[in-house]
Amino acid sequence: MRIFLIGFMGCGKSSLGKRLSRKINFDFIDLDILVEEKAQKKIERIIKEDGEQTFREIERQALLSLSEFDNVVIAAGGGAPCFYDNMHTILSMGISVYLKMNPLSLAKRLEDSKHFRPLLKNKSGQELVDHIRTMLIEREKYYLQANCVIKGENAKPDHIIRLVFGESEKFFVNK
Ligand code: S3P
Repeated sequence: MRIFLIGFMGCGKSSLGKRLSRKINFDFIDLDILVEEKAQKKIERIIKEDGEQTFREIERQALLSLSEFDNVVIAAGGGAPCFYDNMHTILSMGISVYLKMNPLSLAKRLEDSKHFRPLLKNKSGQELVDHIRTMLIEREKYYLQANCVIKGENAKPDHIIRLVFGESEKFFVNK
């Protein structure tokens, strides 16, 4: 089984994904890290030196390579579901959960984050909120195809466990 966490940059996919994977004894894969390993460079450099199109192609290949893994929780980069046929690929490879968060919460979390996001172009304040709102209008049509949608604010591993395994497979959980 593969569990994909999808959603906008800053919605908490990686931190929730790591905690979830520990709780259910799955491995954790961060798609961004897989991309960087494949390209042998940081995403920031790929986008700057080779362009976003090249980054999206590597991201697509990295996504397809996940078919080699089983019993994994995957944090997909924020744009991953929105390019090529990637959302269809995600749906065919596993169970997907969209961590939905409003633009204001996302902007606050992104401003507090130490992680540099090249596509946000150093925006802050109201400009960042507006930028996120515009990007979300374009992206939510992909995110909302996920098998489950949960509120990203205060999302806990147990919420996802209940959605994915229901009551019957609690034995997966490390107590
Ligand atoms: C991107 C999100 C980033 C990373 C890249 C592009 C996007 O991942 O893949 O900077 O297009 O939303 P996170 O969502 O993990 O920040």
